[in-house]
Amino acid sequence: MTGQPRYDYIIIGSGIAGLNTALLAAAQGSVLVITKGRIDDCNSRYAQGGIAAAIGPGDSPTLHRRDTLDAGAGLCDPDAVAVLTGQGPDSIASLIRWGVPFDTIHGQIALGREGAHSIPRILHAGGDATGQHIEDTLADRVRSAPNITVLEYTHATRICVADGRAAGVATLPAGGGAAQTYRSPVVVISAGGAGQLYRYTTNPEVATGDGVALAFLAGADVMDMEFYQFHPTALWLAGAPTFLLSEAMRGEGAILRNAAGRPFMADYHPLADLAPRDVVARAIAAEMEQSGGQAALLDISHLPGATVSSRFPTIYAECRRYGLDITQQPIPVAPAAHYMMGGVRIDTWGRTGIPGLYACGEAACAAVHGANRLASNSLLDTLVFSRRLVDATLGNAPEYAPAEGDRDRDRDLRATLPNRAMVCATVPERGRENLQDLMWRNAGIARNGTRLLLSARILNLWQRTMPPPATVAYFELRNMLTAARLIVESALQRRESRGAHYREDFAETSAEWRRHIVLSRGDLT
Ligand code: SIN
Repeated sequence: MTGQPRYDYIIIGSGIAGLNTALLAAAQGSVLVITKGRIDDCNSRYAQGGIAAAIGPGDSPTLHRRDTLDAGAGLCDPDAVAVLTGQGPDSIASLIRWGVPFDTIHGQIALGREGAHSIPRILHAGGDATGQHIEDTLADRVRSAPNITVLEYTHATRICVADGRAAGVATLPAGGGAAQTYRSPVVVISAGGAGQLYRYTTNPEVATGDGVALAFLAGADVMDMEFYQFHPTALWLAGAPTFLLSEAMRGEGAILRNAAGRPFMADYHPLADLAPRDVVARAIAAEMEQSGGQAALLDISHLPGATVSSRFPTIYAECRRYGLDITQQPIPVAPAAHYMMGGVRIDTWGRTGIPGLYACGEAACAAVHGANRLASNSLLDTLVFSRRLVDATLGNAPEYAPAEGDRDRDRDLRATLPNRAMVCATVPERGRENLQDLMWRNAGIARNGTRLLLSARILNLWQRTMPPPATVAYFELRNMLTAARLIVESALQRRESRGAHYREDFAETSAEWRRHIVLSRGDLT
């Protein structure tokens, strides 16, 4: 690889995880950020509700830790959660120093409440535009940092590994042009989630699972991929996008009603509308099924209109575009794919099992979210673990030690599943939309072994018959198929229901399954 451009750090992805890593790494050396769209074309930008941290009166990292562990349904790594919640307040202080304009009330930072938090601890900016404000603040600093080069509209197509270490990244320009490889002893994957694997998602077009696929194909382990979080409340209106309606609305008092107008969440959980996300998403799906597919309704119209429109200006304006006034009427909502709890397996210093290869943000998994992420912990995760990752590159971390996980304990599983799953009269044509339909129907809010096995077979067939690599479209579809396969295979293995993973054929949580599923390249044929 000699002769190719060399950087001290290469970072794939330009969401908050990638940009925070870039800014911290730039103090140590030269940094290249590779991003497949514009610098601010990322999932973080769409985070509305905010960022959770124990900074308020009566709060503490211990309380925040307890809420995170409770929401995670027994699969959070307690050490990782202690790091997240303990270092949360410092991460917020850095953002404030860098100029993120968090909303205030009476001169103090305003704190909102969201589902499964025992106390208000959600900082927000611009009302419901928190991700956008943080992203813009970091992007401005990155643009003016002399040590950072940003390569926009460029796809990372391969992580180069030489002598067992990360050595660089192969790329292809989005608009056509020659492939180029960049060298670096440190490669950081911060390419975000994979909501585009599903027919309905709150994620933007760029969220195609690239990071997790690239790392997996390079030989890194992935973990917890069966846990995909479905946000309970996305706009559900013909002709409108699947737009996120923040959980913070329920934190401010919005209530969910079924199609007949009856509030229903108290039937499902003692915390009612502020129950954990997985519970609310399944409750809405159940109510929708009972009403023959009609949307549930999110109603905040009982609060003063001016309060609602100033607290949620983005949501207010977006709904107005589609003829809905959230201050006057309930809004039709349904669950949509939102957040990937699993990802590239890292330890609490952002290290994968491949020396020199690191990961952070939604693409990574330190088991900090377990089986169900607590609302607004994701932005905090990006900040805390990107900082630790840069520390680790300086040799400031102990031995690599990821959360314990099981690998391939169930190789005989397929033999135990019904034969009818093997019969598939017509295999749909390979393509993005058919993949999204397949995942929505078979690996969505409710799964079962038969449909998962059928999906695994179709995905395998699509993967085996891919044309030769040539274009950006090829690489993106390859990544989507890889990430989808990882979700389906992990969901097939986990024969229980826990957190966001619900199996109709194994509806109970089982103590035997209180363990992580880890997959690596040899596991998928
Ligand atoms: C929301 O505002 O409801 C989404 C924030 C998150 O996913 O934590």
